[in-house]
Amino acid sequence: MYVAPSILSANFLKLEEEIKAIEKAEADLLHIDVMDGHFVPNLTFGPCVIERISSITKIPLDIHLMVNDVSKFVNLFIPLKPKFLTFHLEAENHPMRLCEYIRSQGIHPGIVLNPHTPVDSIKHILEFVDIVLLMSVNPGFGGQQFLPLIYEKIKELREMIDKKNAKVFIEVDGGINGLNASDLEACGADILVAGNHIFSSNDYASAIKSLKLEF
Ligand code: DX5
Ligand code: ZN
Repeated sequence: MYVAPSILSANFLKLEEEIKAIEKAEADLLHIDVMDGHFVPNLTFGPCVIERISSITKIPLDIHLMVNDVSKFVNLFIPLKPKFLTFHLEAENHPMRLCEYIRSQGIHPGIVLNPHTPVDSIKHILEFVDIVLLMSVNPGFGGQQFLPLIYEKIKELREMIDKKNAKVFIEVDGGINGLNASDLEACGADILVAGNHIFSSNDYASAIKSLKLEF
């Protein structure tokens, strides 16, 4: 199980300290939520801020685009060379083409599904993605309540991936804590994103470890 702290819940006035602390606490990925104020009713980081972040850490970046004009935004973030660049299926008419493009730039492409979007909708594009991010809250804000409907979706996706013998990571995002992590892992999740659970604790290493407990 890999853990990706979401810096949306970090103390922005001490961002450098926060990122160093997360690195010391052995975070596997740094989850960065990009919001455009249209796809979701909130605004967050742009490429300038993320470029500064990447200059002070070795943690691979996991950029989650919550934006409408996906292909335009993708080109702003490709030069930052994140490990994963994911976008919402709900926002893009040609996800297959866009994933191929992201891959051609040497970056692992991924698709994000909102809680109401069926897993079946990505059945035919699975070979074009390296990661699928399943939202366990409606996107836009940190600290929201976890939606248990996600368990069924993870199991369904796991089955689909295994059947196709595909190499695709399953990532889950929203409301994740020490109480639901082991069930998410048991259903087949590979990567857990957590904002509030990690950044509201006073021991980041233990908070990360609590999400990695074997079931
Ligand atoms: C929500 C974001 C999440 C958020 C998770 O739209 O995509 O990454 O930061 O935060 P928590 O873990 O606090 O729900
Ligand atoms: Zn996210």
